[in-house]
Amino acid sequence: MEIRQKFTGVYEIDNHIATENLNPGIKVYSERLVELKDKEYRIWDPRRSKLSAAILNGLSVFPFENDSKVLYLGASAGTTLSHISDVCKNGLIYCVEFSPRMMRNLMDVCKARENMVPILDDATKPRSYMNLVQKVDVIYSDVAQPSQSELFMDNMRLYLKGEGIGILMIKARSIDVTKAPNKIFKEEESKLKTQGFRVIEKVKLEPYEKDHMAFVCEFSF
Ligand SMILES: C[S@@+](CC[C@H](N)C(=O)[O-])C[C@H]1O[C@@H](n2cnc3c(N)ncnc32)[C@H](O)[C@@H]1O
Repeated sequence: MEIRQKFTGVYEIDNHIATENLNPGIKVYSERLVELKDKEYRIWDPRRSKLSAAILNGLSVFPFENDSKVLYLGASAGTTLSHISDVCKNGLIYCVEFSPRMMRNLMDVCKARENMVPILDDATKPRSYMNLVQKVDVIYSDVAQPSQSELFMDNMRLYLKGEGIGILMIKARSIDVTKAPNKIFKEEESKLKTQGFRVIEKVKLEPYEKDHMAFVCEFSF
């Protein structure tokens, strides 16, 4: 097997991407574990994680570092988060999720990973977790809601460091099922641009996820 580093903490193993397992021997979802040169890697499934799909589709800006502080909106059961937790080994990831059912599953992942802080709260009300969250280097948002761009921008304004990066996963059909996805992507991009953000990269997620686009953003001032 061939292994090659792609980004900080992200590897290409044959035709797959992977992260080094922070908890050797433990799976988070049904991912494959691979042992190479005394290290264990978790294959990062692009059909289960939009960030993996974006990387496989050519994402070039990967802002996560070993010690990054990250605010993750729409944590769900922790599939993508667990790979970010592998990458940001010495960092801290605030994991916001409003579904108590998802949070129960997420708690199992957080208990085994000291760099994940679970927050049961609504990402449309970012001030409500102000007592728990510090300024962060990266905001990652994947909530699949009609107001996905608005809540992303509200959290960016409140929690992102000046030089930080935000990644917004847009699911067109959560905004309007009757509109063409490309029209929705243009409208959401225009909202970002007119409200103080520069879009530095856009990556479509097909064939892994239909009608989804990853937007990588920074402050435009
Ligand atoms: C598409 S799933 C996220 C998948 C996850 N990011 C992953 O890749 O592993 C969307 C999640 O966002 C959560 N969510 C939706 N609206 C939210 C809100 N306003 N605040 C917090 N969580 C929200 C949902 O409960 C759901 O778990």
